[in-house]
Amino acid sequence: MSSETRPANGDTRTFLGAIIRNPFELGAIAPSSKAVARLAASVVPVTHGAVVVELGAGGGVISDAIRERLPPGGRQLAVELNDDMVRHLRRSRPWLEVIADDAGDLEKLLGRAGVTRVDAVISSLPWTLFDEQRQKHILDGVSAALALGGRFSTVITLSAMPSRRFRRFRGLLNHTFATVGTMGPVWLNVPPALVFTASRSHSDPGE
Ligand SMILES: C[S@@+](CC[C@H](N)C(=O)[O-])C[C@H]1O[C@@H](n2cnc3c(N)ncnc32)[C@H](O)[C@@H]1O
Repeated sequence: MSSETRPANGDTRTFLGAIIRNPFELGAIAPSSKAVARLAASVVPVTHGAVVVELGAGGGVISDAIRERLPPGGRQLAVELNDDMVRHLRRSRPWLEVIADDAGDLEKLLGRAGVTRVDAVISSLPWTLFDEQRQKHILDGVSAALALGGRFSTVITLSAMPSRRFRRFRGLLNHTFATVGTMGPVWLNVPPALVFTASRSHSDPGE
């Protein structure tokens, strides 16, 4: 693996340890590569004061890519459920606002953090471990949190794509957002992955 595709050592150690302890919560066999992280973070606006929320920050490789792109003056929050990952993120990335909680409670969590507008949401949540109801609940929360014109991205490994749960998730993406696109695949990721992007249009109903 080149340094382009390899995450930092401490990140990988924490990630692999957490997989061993909680194989069904992480939904991955390795952290995302830097190339995937950069693609996922490409939805981060480069405007001053932007607010970005990451769901399932894990070892922090995508958090780093978001930070690289986000101009000073913005806010970067990360929601992470796994206690080991939360400890690791807080120790290794003191600049990150880590929320140790469930991405399914996004509205409540953002309210507590005093966030009233979100410009981008970046996820690497294990969508195919969630049933359709949970997928829909989390996507609805993302859509509700995003400002008009706000963008969403999510990492999906090619190995997850043949599953029925992925097909349901794909349908929900179309249903929830005005536009949906893909970037990649990144073949050097383990396993290879795509990034799905979606956005709320300026003419979404209900505004
Ligand atoms: C596939 S890993 C991705 C980790 C890292 N962002 C990366 O790309 O390498 C998924 C992460 O989502 C977290 N996670 C799973 N379910 C979650 C939930 N409901 N709320 C918040 N985080 C969750 C897991 O603990 C894990 O850290």
